[in-house]
Amino acid sequence: MGYGLLKGKRGIISGALNEQSIAWKVAELAHAEGARFVLTNAPVAMRMGEINGLAEKTGSEIIPADATNDTDLEALFSGSIEKLGGPVDFVLHSIGMSPNVRKGRTYDNLNYEWYKQTLDVSAISLHRMMQAAHKGNALAEGASVVALSYIAAQRVFPDYGDMADAKALLESITRSWGYRLGKEKNIRVNTISQSPTMTTAGSGIKGFDGFFGFAQEMSPLGNAPAEDCANYCITLFSDLTRFVTMQNLFHDGGFSSTGVTREVMAKFMQEE
Ligand SMILES: NC(=O)c1ccc[n+]([C@@H]2O[C@H](COP(=O)([O-])OP(=O)(O)OC[C@H]3O[C@@H](n4cnc5c(N)ncnc54)[C@H](O)[C@@H]3O)[C@@H](O)[C@H]2O)c1
Repeated sequence: MGYGLLKGKRGIISGALNEQSIAWKVAELAHAEGARFVLTNAPVAMRMGEINGLAEKTGSEIIPADATNDTDLEALFSGSIEKLGGPVDFVLHSIGMSPNVRKGRTYDNLNYEWYKQTLDVSAISLHRMMQAAHKGNALAEGASVVALSYIAAQRVFPDYGDMADAKALLESITRSWGYRLGKEKNIRVNTISQSPTMTTAGSGIKGFDGFFGFAQEMSPLGNAPAEDCANYCITLFSDLTRFVTMQNLFHDGGFSSTGVTREVMAKFMQEE
């Protein structure tokens, strides 16, 4: 049962690959809250076909777009205006991929072509999306843009590799566009820094179960599930958060503010 928070709103949701994807949960909830939207993903991800089921379930259309290709992105925004009948009120950027992490290249042995790809797919793609939307006049007054980040942008997690640099860039691009679009059209741009989550992108990271378990024990509320991340996205797309912009918002059960927990200390204490 929804609250009608996105009633009458139009949007674009990227990154729904399968049922585990954070974007998948966002699409389900946005639909339940009354939004109409276009789903998009890389043409290669379309081949797996799972997104068709989501489109059917949420009554949405799909426009494939490689987030590193400006022509695709321009077509995504103009096509969305056409299909939805006007400029969009919200955009979800839920895109991340590192060939170095995937192929086990550690931070001290990066392949630089892949490093550029990591930055392009995972961070510059947000800039490309905003630029295409801006040029195509595709964002409505007061629209909301949300991208998903991770705390490795601020702190070191050794196996997160070059994705840490991509997330730092993503958060900076968020502020830079947030300033400009805010001045121009009261548009908000934020990142949500999400807990480790069991998805295709998440579990591709070496030792993911280690970081997942550590974060779980270091967070007073435990790791935030994907469904709750989707809930948070919906509040940011809604009119209830019209003055929140240029922020990196932690959605992590308290992990980012916790020095240590008793559960973690207990692992190092001598039994008395
Ligand atoms: N899973 C986690 O632990 C976690 C934690 C914090 C932040 N995030 C972030 O959340 C976002 C979504 O990831 P997820 O965990 O739902 O995993 P996911 O694998 O389900 O989603 C990643 C998406 O990026 C898409 N993508 C990759 N290359 C693309 C391209 N060139 N063009 C367009 N789309 C492309 C993939 O097709 C996929 O749909 C990512 O930015 C990720 O870094 C994930």
